[in-house]
Amino acid sequence: MTVTALSNIFVEIFKTAADKSFFAPGRINLIGEHTDYNGGHVFPCAITYGTYAVAKKREDRLVRLYSVNFPEKGVIEFSLDQLDYNKEHNWANYPKGMIRYIMEAGYQIPSGFECVIEGNIPNGAGLSSSASIELLTGVLIEGLFALEIPRIDLIKIGKQVENQFIGVNSGIMDQFAIGMGKKDAGILLDCQTLKYEYAPIQLENHKIIIMNTNKRRELADSKYNERRGECEEALSQLQQKLPIEALGQLSEVEFDENQHLITNETVRKRAKHAVYENIRTLRALEELKAGNLETFGQLVNQSHISLRDDYEVTGIELDSLVEAAWKQPGVLGARMTGAGFGGCAIAIVENDKVESFISNVGAEYAAKIGYEADFYVASIGEGAKEL
Ligand code: GLA
Repeated sequence: MTVTALSNIFVEIFKTAADKSFFAPGRINLIGEHTDYNGGHVFPCAITYGTYAVAKKREDRLVRLYSVNFPEKGVIEFSLDQLDYNKEHNWANYPKGMIRYIMEAGYQIPSGFECVIEGNIPNGAGLSSSASIELLTGVLIEGLFALEIPRIDLIKIGKQVENQFIGVNSGIMDQFAIGMGKKDAGILLDCQTLKYEYAPIQLENHKIIIMNTNKRRELADSKYNERRGECEEALSQLQQKLPIEALGQLSEVEFDENQHLITNETVRKRAKHAVYENIRTLRALEELKAGNLETFGQLVNQSHISLRDDYEVTGIELDSLVEAAWKQPGVLGARMTGAGFGGCAIAIVENDKVESFISNVGAEYAAKIGYEADFYVASIGEGAKEL
């Protein structure tokens, strides 16, 4: 839907015209999965799929929100004076949490506003539609009320909403990628220090294909928080001997030499993934920079194997897609992306093989799983902004 179409819906619903428009992307992660909350590195990028909003200030203190994606929820309304989580407010809890924590951070939001939102990120697909709405709300509030909020603060407020308001103990990767995205670049982020660098994604004659399992992944319902707990357990056992603050500080050798400190075998596997994936991410960036696409692709594949066997967050749907992708000609690498447990995978595929790739992987997946996967060509785009 175009912004003009969205503005027309705004007029229909609110009987007045919107005066500002905003966009926030979704994200994919190229490599570095389940490393962010372990103080490791991630390498995500913003995509051109995302969430749009058109909005206008009100004279009073009401916030009135409508999503084209959830028409059955109608206009969701609350006051700036009542910003508690409310289950009935459904998707609007994300903007509500943002408003609340932006105000708590000391910024003045002098009046309410009206807003129509529409997203073209498949919802629940693990491309961070929730972080997209968070950052969208952030730039919207900045734009409507002429505030200047340092981008890193908006990113942290988005994470705070996820952790404290919604109750998902997620790391900072999604909000960071969506807040800081840059066209045709990946972002290598050290999640412990928040130091980052942009790296051009030069894949020569290849495209990144997003493959949606169409198995919904909802973080709050998933084993995400459980994995995080297992990593904390591993860390605290390693800390009996090692002066570390996060698993991401360990080299592979240091981990191997000390892994006996972790008493539970499953927990040990989780920690191994966190440590090895972090190192793999740094290596992958080096290979990409050096133009060694084959090796980059192999590291991408190893990431999936580690997530499948050691971290155990893939499942039959993601494994079927990725394993079918590995068999196709012209594929540099493929892996799940995001939290796992369903959602999306990515594959790096030679331009002129994309069509046969989609039809072969699609057929194999449908035959095995019993329903279709969806495929999209990813373009790497800008972070959240006023349009
Ligand atoms: C979700 C979380 C992120 C990150 C990934 C796994 O997307 O929101 O913080 O932990 O899972 O890498």
